[in-house]
Amino acid sequence: MADLSIDFCGIKSPNPFWLASAPPTDKAYNVVRAFEAGWGGVVWKTLGEDPPAVNVSSRYSALHGKNREVIGFNNIELITDRSLALNLQEITAVKKAWPDRAMIVSLMLPCEEAPWKEILPLVEATGADGIELNFGCPHGMPERGMGAAVGQQPDLIEMVTRWCKTHTRLPVIVKLTPNITDVRAPARAALAGGADAVSLINTVNSITHLDLDSMVAYPIVGGRSTHGGYCGSAVKPIALNMVAEIARDPVTAHLPISGIGGIGNWTDAAEFIALGAGSVQVCTAAMLHGFRIVEEMKDGLSRWMDRKGYANIAAFSRKAVPNTTDWKYLDMNYQVIASIDQDKCIQCGKCYVACEDTSHQAIARLVEGNARRYEVKREECVGCNLCEITCPVEGCITMVPQPSEKPYMNWTQDPRNPRAEVVA
Ligand SMILES: Cc1cc2nc3c(=O)[nH]c(=O)nc-3n(C[C@H](O)[C@H](O)[C@H](O)COP(=O)(O)O)c2cc1C
Ligand code: SF4
Ligand code: SF4
Repeated sequence: MADLSIDFCGIKSPNPFWLASAPPTDKAYNVVRAFEAGWGGVVWKTLGEDPPAVNVSSRYSALHGKNREVIGFNNIELITDRSLALNLQEITAVKKAWPDRAMIVSLMLPCEEAPWKEILPLVEATGADGIELNFGCPHGMPERGMGAAVGQQPDLIEMVTRWCKTHTRLPVIVKLTPNITDVRAPARAALAGGADAVSLINTVNSITHLDLDSMVAYPIVGGRSTHGGYCGSAVKPIALNMVAEIARDPVTAHLPISGIGGIGNWTDAAEFIALGAGSVQVCTAAMLHGFRIVEEMKDGLSRWMDRKGYANIAAFSRKAVPNTTDWKYLDMNYQVIASIDQDKCIQCGKCYVACEDTSHQAIARLVEGNARRYEVKREECVGCNLCEITCPVEGCITMVPQPSEKPYMNWTQDPRNPRAEVVA
C-alpha cells in the first residue's frame, strides 16, 4: 500500500492533507475533530497581536451553479478574533495530544521587527512544527498595512521573512497572495529572505453578486458591502497555474510548495502534487462538506498511487512540471480532430451551434427525414475542443490525435514565424 506520509521542509505529516488557516482551524474543538477524522496537519487560523480582530455580520457569499452547488466562495472575515493567549494555550494542548500531526501556526503582524521577535518564541514554546506567514489576506488587513499589502511588495516579503528566520528555528512557510501580476516575484523574495517553503494561494479579490433591489453586493453588512476573498473550486485553475509557475521558475524550482485553492477531492490534490506541491491545504471544501472528506481523499489517492505504482508522494511529485512549458515550445505539427460517437449522440445540436457561431464551421447538420445527424467536417476542424466541452454527453465527442509524418517543430523553429528564435 502506498506511503502517504510526507516530510515537508522538515515538517512531518502522516499524509499530505492539511486544513488551511481558516475557520476549520480556529480552535482546539475543530482541530481535534479534524485530527480524529484523519487530517495529516493543520495551519492554525492566523494569529495576530492583541487585542484580537473584530468581525462583522454577515461574512460570506457564494457563486452557485444551477443545482445550488457552490462553485466559488467569498469571505470578508479577518484573522482570529480570539486572544493570543487562548490560541497559544490550545495549540500547545492539541500538539501535545497529537504529536504525529503537523501543526503549523499562521501569523500576521505589522511590518516592524519587534512584534515578530516577541511572538515567535511564544509560538515556538507551543511545540508547533512550523509557522506560516499570512501575506495574502485581501480584505480588512491590507488597509492596516498587513496581509496582501505585504504580499504585494516583494521587498517587504523578503524583510519580514528574514526577521522570522532570525528569530525562530521553526521552518518558515510564506503564504502568497494571488492578487499580483507575476507570482514568481514574491516567491523569489520569500526565497531570498530565507523561507523554507511557500504556500499558495490565499483568496482572490472578489465580489460574487449583488442584491439588485437594494443595490448592495453580498455579503451585506448593514446596507453596505466590501470586496472579499474568493476561494473554492472556481479558483483551482488560478492556483494550479501559480504553483506551476513557481515550480517551473529556475530560481525557485527546488523551493517546497504547499498547494492551496479549490482542492476538494483526491484528484485535485494529485494534480497539485504533480505540478509541484509537496503538501496540500483545504479550506472551502471542508467548510461545505465537513472534515470527513479527508477519508475519500486519502483512500482515493492511495488506491490511485497503488494502481500507478507510486510507492510514495515523492514518486509523482513534480512529474507534470517538465510537461508544462511556454507556448512557444508546443509542437506546431500536432493535430487533433473532433470525432462524434453517433451511438451516444442525443442530437441536441449544441456542438453545431458552438462550432458554427464561434469556431470553424466544422460540424455539419444533416437532416434525414425527421432525424438530425451531426458530423465533423474533418478538413475544417482545427481541434479547438469547443464542441467536446459543449457536448452534454460525456465521452460522446472525443478529440482524436492524427498520425503525422512531420517531426516536432515549435514556433521558434517554424518558417511561418517572422521572428524565429534560436531554439532553447
Ligand atoms: C472564511 C475564511 C477565512 C479565512 N481565513 C484565513 C486566515 O485567517 N488566514 C489565512 O492565511 N487564510 C485564510 N483563508 C484563506 C484559506 O486559508 C485558503 O487560502 C483559501 O480559502 C483557498 O483555499 P480553498 O479554495 O480550499 O478555500 C480564509 C478563507 C476563508 C474561506
Ligand atoms: S474541435 Fe473546434 S473546430 Fe473542430 S468541430 Fe469541434 S468546435 Fe469545430
Ligand atoms: S453536442 Fe453532443 S450530443 Fe449534442 S449533437 Fe453534438 S455530439 Fe450530439
